[in-house]
Amino acid sequence: MALIRLSIISCLGFFMINNYNAVQAWSKEGHVMTCQIAQELLSPDAAHAVQMLLPDYVKGNLSALCVWPDQIRHWYRYRWTSPLHFIDTPDDACSFDYTRDCHDSNGMVDMCVAGAIKNFTSQLSHYQHGTSDRRYNMTEALLFVSHFMGDIHQPMHVGFTTDEGGNTIDLRWFRHKSNLHHVWDREIILTAASELYDKDMESLQKAIQANFTHGLWSDDVNSWKDCDDISNCVNKYAKESIALACKWGYEGVEAGETLSDDYFDSRMPIVMKRIAQGGVRLSMILNRVFGSSSSLEDALVPT
Ligand SMILES: *[C@@H]1O[C@H](CO)[C@@H](O)[C@H](O)[C@H]1NC(C)=O
Ligand SMILES: *[C@@H]1O[C@H](CO)[C@@H](O)[C@H](O)[C@H]1NC(C)=O
Ligand SMILES: *[C@@H]1O[C@H](CO)[C@@H](O)[C@H](O)[C@H]1NC(C)=O
Ligand SMILES: *[C@@H]1O[C@H](CO)[C@@H](O)[C@H](O)[C@H]1NC(C)=O
Repeated sequence: MALIRLSIISCLGFFMINNYNAVQAWSKEGHVMTCQIAQELLSPDAAHAVQMLLPDYVKGNLSALCVWPDQIRHWYRYRWTSPLHFIDTPDDACSFDYTRDCHDSNGMVDMCVAGAIKNFTSQLSHYQHGTSDRRYNMTEALLFVSHFMGDIHQPMHVGFTTDEGGNTIDLRWFRHKSNLHHVWDREIILTAASELYDKDMESLQKAIQANFTHGLWSDDVNSWKDCDDISNCVNKYAKESIALACKWGYEGVEAGETLSDDYFDSRMPIVMKRIAQGGVRLSMILNRVFGSSSSLEDALVPT
């Protein structure tokens, strides 16, 4: 995406860090909320497994490391992970087809956010069989699944190819310069926090949680967790995202224009729902791969 261009023009390390933050993934805030929501919904077995896999210094706090995949994606050793944060779908198709769309820019199959979630969920499902499986680093698999479940729910991460998921659509967000991708990654979340929750992310997160425990989405939350097989489920999440990107992300937006109250008011509820769904579904995956039951219906991945 736009990252490549930015890294070429930024020669100073700290600029690069700023630019990376500006164009990546759900913002830090979106990922932290997704992971915090998920962690609070873990079963005792899954909570224990997560605690065992996290390094001691985060004191059991998964959300403290949910942005790690964004921090390492440009390191030489992890450059292969860069295409795993998104899916480029054909311009204006407004659909997702795994075989057609889940590959990197060289055509390597499975190298997209849907393929990555399948891959790392499958790795985690071996955790049960003892930590003797040294093929995989289970800590990394946990952090990747946690991060990518956030990304696949961000509608513009399943956006069109030519505009790089909205990254090349420059516009203004109220008074400052931004782009359409970033509006969905971060601007809407920050504007919501500052306008409605006194800049307090934790209050915003509590409001999201209240809306699925006893509010707006409480009747839907169980169906969000429906998942027979991880392949079908990631396809469903990606299809939801591109449909939302077409209906609400791109709709009516022209490069160079200013987006403000109308766009914020109508899109904010969608962003909040996607954060909630990402968190609830991440907990569903972790509860199942780390659950004590070995029943077939709990098996998300074919063994
Ligand atoms: C966990 O980490 C997140 C992200 O760094 C932070 O916002 C949150 O306050 C931490 N929670 C606790 C209980 O330390
Ligand atoms: C799956 O994970 C392994 C590392 O454990 C990596 O080599 C491979 O490229 C990954 N594939 C996808 C689609 O994430
Ligand atoms: C797993 O990955 C983490 C993060 O990269 C690293 O700190 C840790 O040493 C790795 N563990 C093993 C057993 O290689
Ligand atoms: C929670 O739901 C109410 C409607 O019941 C809505 O006005 C509010 O914006 C929602 N808050 C969040 C953070 O989703």
